[in-house]
Amino acid sequence: MGMMDPFREAALLLKRSRYTTAFTGAGISVESGIPPFRGEGGLWSKYDPKTLDLQYFLEDPTGSWRVIKEIFYDFFDTAKPNKAHQVLARMEQEGMLGCTITQNIDYLHQEAGSRVVYEFHGNTKSLRCLHCNRAYKPGQMSLDHFPPTCRECGGVLKPDFVFFGESIPQIPLGAAYEAASLSDVFLIIGTTGEVMPANQIPVMAKQYGAKIIEVNPEPSNYTLHITDIFLQGKATEVMEKLEGQLFSAALDNDENGVD
Ligand code: APR
Repeated sequence: MGMMDPFREAALLLKRSRYTTAFTGAGISVESGIPPFRGEGGLWSKYDPKTLDLQYFLEDPTGSWRVIKEIFYDFFDTAKPNKAHQVLARMEQEGMLGCTITQNIDYLHQEAGSRVVYEFHGNTKSLRCLHCNRAYKPGQMSLDHFPPTCRECGGVLKPDFVFFGESIPQIPLGAAYEAASLSDVFLIIGTTGEVMPANQIPVMAKQYGAKIIEVNPEPSNYTLHITDIFLQGKATEVMEKLEGQLFSAALDNDENGVD
């Protein structure tokens, strides 16, 4: 058989995989209206990443919060899951996806119906007081003055996402290492692979023998390094096409060896 269509090849791999992990980055949410961090229109071409550095936040919570609100709180209440998030949720429901490790803090995987989601960088859905550790939901704080403070003790509120220089929460970190060690297939969607330590997870999976399928309109740090099947394109278009292959009867013939 000649070179198989990469979508068909990817679909066969996914159908035969005993355990598949999806590993996602900002690119999967671009078509939901949330800009990426790097590349054209990237947030870091408009804002200084130092505003998300833990040290900077502690020294200048007002300056940091001004940017945090614009980047994460203004966008997120309007963004909705897109087709790519929905296909991953369907794959999970049909037993074709074990878990999703996401670097994103937009909660769109959960809103699309995915249940086993590990947020490597936390999320924006909760905040806590730096002084008394009381937890808050975004709706419980007012952002018309900076920084938002705790109703109980007046301490500064910090979003529960991971700042640069802050450690990764234990549960997603452990889950990511375990997923890397037991996955037959890693489906990487929309990430440059720039940021440590998240970017090491797919590399670990490869070292454990996983096959790597990558979805991205551009090559990333993974493409020429660990990617086995590169499905070049936008997440919604690629995932819609892959969904067609995954849930089509024709594929079953292939799987049973009927050529
Ligand atoms: N579909 C799929 N991928 C896309 C799309 C799209 N429509 N548009 C852009 N991309 C790709 C880009 O080509 C790029 O590879 O998404 C990736 C976005 O890269 P980054 O902005 O670097 O996002 P990410 O890799 O998730 O960043 C990791 O950096 O700033 C920190 O904590 C932040 O979690 C983030 C981490």
